[in-house]
Amino acid sequence: MRTLAEHTPAESVATSDVRSAAAFFKRIVAVGGGKGGIGKSLIASSLGIEFARRGRRVVLIDLDLGGANLHTCLGIAHPEETLSDFVLRRVESLEEIAVDTGFENLRLVSGSLDAIAAANPLHQQKLRLMRAIQGLDADLVVLDLGAGSHFNVLDFFLVADEGIVTLVPEPTSVENAYRFVKAAFFRRLKAVEAVYGLHDVLAEVMQARRPMSPARLVQEVSRRDPEAGMRLSEEMRAFRPFVVVNAVREAADLSLGDAICTAWRRFFGIELRYLGHVRHDEEAWRAVRARRPLLLERAGQPIAADLRAIADGLWARFEEEAESTR
Ligand SMILES: Nc1ncnc2c1ncn2[C@@H]1O[C@H](COP(=O)(O)OP(=O)(O)OP(=O)(O)O)[C@@H](O)[C@H]1O
Ligand SMILES: [Mg+2]
Repeated sequence: MRTLAEHTPAESVATSDVRSAAAFFKRIVAVGGGKGGIGKSLIASSLGIEFARRGRRVVLIDLDLGGANLHTCLGIAHPEETLSDFVLRRVESLEEIAVDTGFENLRLVSGSLDAIAAANPLHQQKLRLMRAIQGLDADLVVLDLGAGSHFNVLDFFLVADEGIVTLVPEPTSVENAYRFVKAAFFRRLKAVEAVYGLHDVLAEVMQARRPMSPARLVQEVSRRDPEAGMRLSEEMRAFRPFVVVNAVREAADLSLGDAICTAWRRFFGIELRYLGHVRHDEEAWRAVRARRPLLLERAGQPIAADLRAIADGLWARFEEEAESTR
């Protein structure tokens, strides 16, 4: 079995730097996971810093509206203007509240610490925010989501081009992650059922047996209505979140990501893509104390190499996509 030390990813990061700048097009990435305190903000901020370092224009958005702390991960003070100013229409565009972070190419739209209304935005406010996110002038927008599987969290996960599900190697975290993915899948179905006229057949199936895995749902729908079943299969194939396993402490945990993806594919019919792991860093507190991003404060350490490897994986994915659309 590989040891953690042997598994340090090669420092291949620089190889693709800026090489194919023109091939890029705007991407929105959401970082979620069912549980609090599992490294969502760490991963979101590190992706932002790393893509910005490589020359992409990045906007980080703190959507953890109840407990916004992405600014802390960047080592900066909480900006005065926040999403609540946008949600409450005190400003008209996100550009107005996107502040410089001190890192070239990297701006932050902060969440609000106080506005309770912002943690549960009304439908119209949410749509307006989503449109504003989609309209931002940037190469990469990273959404740092709040904990849990509330539909407001899920909707932002689903509006992104790529979703990253974060978990740590603990049974409760794995369960929460599955609950999150499953909830996101069903939320997505809700959005497409109207488009494809699947409402009746879905309602019938959901009534008959619940709770139900996505794979089982497709089976049941196919039995009743083969064409609707085909549509659902397509939806399932298109729903392919990434998985990151954070706070890995021992070699046995290295196989967890692949094992989860295989199990979820087999038992639940959901196709996940394992993006990589991030090792636990006992000295992470040093970054907090220094008020600097972990990625930079611990630059020579395994945790930073892992975070850069995650950015690498995503970068490669975007380049593939850009190639395929050329
Ligand atoms: N791999 C790691 N090694 C050491 N410390 C870590 C690691 N990942 C995260 N942490 C620390 O754990 C704490 C929680 O991380 P983070 O804020 O990124 O989690 P979160 O999922 O965004 O939490 P919340 O749901 O509260 O927003 C932070 O202090 C962070 O520095
Ligand atoms: Mg967070």
